[in-house]
Amino acid sequence: MIPGLVVLAPMAGITDIVFRRLCRRFGAAIVYSEFLSTDGLVYNTMNQEHKLILADDEHPVAYQLFGARTETFATAARQLATFKPDMIDLNFGCPVKKVVGKNGGAAILKDLELMARIVHEACSAVSLPVTVKMRAGWDHENLVYHDAAHAAVAEGAQAVTLHARTRVDGYETAATWSYITDLKRELKVPVIGNGDVNSPEDAKAMLDQTGCDAVMIGRGALGRPWIFAQINRYLESGELLPEPSIPDRICVAWQHLNDKLADTGHDPGVVRLMRKQLAAYVKGWDGSHALKARLMSAGDPGEIREAFRDYLASHPDLPRIDGDEWIREYVALDFGWLQNPTRLN
Ligand SMILES: Cc1cc2nc3c(=O)[nH]c(=O)nc-3n(C[C@H](O)[C@H](O)[C@H](O)COP(=O)(O)O)c2cc1C
Repeated sequence: MIPGLVVLAPMAGITDIVFRRLCRRFGAAIVYSEFLSTDGLVYNTMNQEHKLILADDEHPVAYQLFGARTETFATAARQLATFKPDMIDLNFGCPVKKVVGKNGGAAILKDLELMARIVHEACSAVSLPVTVKMRAGWDHENLVYHDAAHAAVAEGAQAVTLHARTRVDGYETAATWSYITDLKRELKVPVIGNGDVNSPEDAKAMLDQTGCDAVMIGRGALGRPWIFAQINRYLESGELLPEPSIPDRICVAWQHLNDKLADTGHDPGVVRLMRKQLAAYVKGWDGSHALKARLMSAGDPGEIREAFRDYLASHPDLPRIDGDEWIREYVALDFGWLQNPTRLN
């Protein structure tokens, strides 16, 4: 049922159409939208209809919903279904105060009857597969993932993603992969494991240790969308592909920004929104401190371009990027190892 072994996690502010398409091209088997508020959809307070149109080349793609009021899930799921995603995922893991304060996200793990009703509503409303993504519980005294997953599947959920942390763990405590092992042993539907997969070796270790059907990558894909190609290759042949060269990484970052500009009618304001994502591309580069500072303060695409150019100029040992190479399509980039991006279609 899952068309590959590695999928892109839903990430608010990150997994927009542009990043989803980028990750699909690099081999993510499924990509997830950021979470969408059921209230926002039902009351149209987010004015987001036009933002929900999906691109042909990002499928399989999941739309993710969060909320707390059962009655909004059916309407919101039906609305999303009109945009023809491949599935609808329900969020039972968000730890953010603004969300749990309104009893959404991970707070639903405190009330499994509510969770079951929500899954039931969503499954009854649409003919698309409905899946769930959950944390292991609110805290370690209340590990409810067994009961929560069984309840979700009993109500019709067709796959369960387990982010192997509790709400109180936030993002920093190490994920406990044995929770995923437990769930995989018990469930008949596919289990997707999530938490701390940041390399091909991590992905293989999670698959081997837990038996999960696929791994989900969140932060490991930030500034490194090619990680999907690296993981797929490692799982297929054991080959560890190198990181792309710095000029190639700059080309991907530049293309990412330009796709975002194109998607937003060339609104220069998106540069501000993309600062963190662009800075993620340069993490760990030799002497990238000043470059990062410039990316984080850039106000238009020209400043980004100049920052990258200056970095390259001050590192003469790196190959140069000139002229229209800046606008070459990342699908055409020859990293020497990029998989055929349509392989998983
Ligand atoms: C910036 C950011 C935004 C996130 N937004 C969402 C979200 O909208 N929905 C969701 O289910 N999880 C969200 N998550 C959690 C990730 O999907 C994932 O479960 C978590 O980062 C653990 O995986 P990782 O260790 O691979 O990063 C977010 C995480 C980050 C870092």
